[in-house]
Amino acid sequence: MEKEGKRCRRRVVLVPAPFQGHINPMLQLGSILHSNGFSITVVHAQYNSPDPSTHPDFSFLPLPDSSSDHNILAADGVGFVLELNAKCKARFPECLAQVMTQLGSDDDRIACIIHDEFMYFSQETAKDLKLPSIVLRTASASNFFARDALFQLKAEGHLPFPEYRLQDPVPELYPLRFKDLPIPTFGKVDKFLQMLSKGSNIETSSGIIYNTTYYLENSSLAKMQQRCQVPIFSIGPMHKIASASSSSLLEEDSSCLAWLDKQSCNSVIYVSLGSVAFMDAKELVEMAWGLAHSKQPFLWVVRPGSIRGAEWIEVLPEDFKEDIGERGHIVKWAPQKEVLAHDAVGGFLSHCGWNSTLESICEGIPMICRPYSGDQRVNARYVSHVWKVGLELESKLERCGIERAVRRLMVDEDGKEMQKRGNNLKERCEFCIRDGGSSSNSLNELIDMIKSF
Ligand code: UDX
Repeated sequence: MEKEGKRCRRRVVLVPAPFQGHINPMLQLGSILHSNGFSITVVHAQYNSPDPSTHPDFSFLPLPDSSSDHNILAADGVGFVLELNAKCKARFPECLAQVMTQLGSDDDRIACIIHDEFMYFSQETAKDLKLPSIVLRTASASNFFARDALFQLKAEGHLPFPEYRLQDPVPELYPLRFKDLPIPTFGKVDKFLQMLSKGSNIETSSGIIYNTTYYLENSSLAKMQQRCQVPIFSIGPMHKIASASSSSLLEEDSSCLAWLDKQSCNSVIYVSLGSVAFMDAKELVEMAWGLAHSKQPFLWVVRPGSIRGAEWIEVLPEDFKEDIGERGHIVKWAPQKEVLAHDAVGGFLSHCGWNSTLESICEGIPMICRPYSGDQRVNARYVSHVWKVGLELESKLERCGIERAVRRLMVDEDGKEMQKRGNNLKERCEFCIRDGGSSSNSLNELIDMIKSF
């Protein structure tokens, strides 16, 4: 609810990392704070810059970082983040000074800076300007401890770990195995740990925000609070609290909603591997035949540029297109939250990015987990082994395995049980954001803290 009033109209500066899975939760957080009486300025990188017209109530200020070479992103995502931080650090003080001079009156003072953990350069500037800062971590809380295990293994000289340990359980981190630890598939592990240690250095932060709930991650959040000196705010799932504005970097193809309208209830498997995963043309063809042979209707997002060696789906054989006829619909980018909320959708074959995982849980949609890198493997294990609302597709991406997994999720008794648990989980998450629920309480504490600055 809007809490207008002279005293609480303070400005919060948001600094999102320039990736879809990070921009979405940051702008959702902005919408939530705005509806609670704060003015919002988004200071963002020029690369993947958000569209200001989707959030007309916010001010947007680009950080001149145009010399960052985003071509290195696919090959060395970690190197990209390190370079981006170095470049933005030089520009941020100037940018904040500009915000401050534009603001005349006392009531529109900057209350604090909320930055993505990967935009850690913000923290130093905040400290120099004596502004409080808060970190937004866009992955799950459990992922933090999985990363922590990597630091420990590194310190003990056990990184990289040998092949034979991959299936072993990581001590005290059930249900994770060594192969599930969030090692990036792009970039070197040493550089990755260097980036994480900068992002996790929260010495001068006033708090940490997680887009999660106590119902999903009770023990990790409790462990986190014991470990940190600053308050932990778990205020998710934020997309269910924030206004519905889209912060999509790609154009959403809404034709798929009309196609979904023609399908029967719970019959469609939705397939999307998020905003950064890649696959080979051969894997694309295997996926296509796996979906075709499952005989289930499917809605498939193939992001342009996500298939190595192909522009889009031109490598798919003609007989596949004839075989599926109207049973399949392929788009470049979908309005995912609306798709998952559609009655026709009964399953989600996903890379298990944290946003996709939460969006699926919130609609009670069971998942086939096909993680690609980093925290996605951790999320996949929680989906399949802790919340038990999905199954893992672990083998090489081949048509038979895909067909079997889709039939298991959409047709078999096993899948029906996951569906039931999914509905229960959905209800529990709804409780968390209602008045008196854990996320609602935590959000109120966050708002009180920001007002107190
Ligand atoms: C990245 C990392 O891969 C992920 O593990 C981390 O948790 C966040 O950053 P990404 O690939 O972007 O994630 O996936 P995800 O976190 O699921 O975010 C993707 C977002 O794009 C979701 O909010 C989803 O709704 C949206 N999306 C995806 C669309 O709007 N349309 C689509 O067609 C596909």
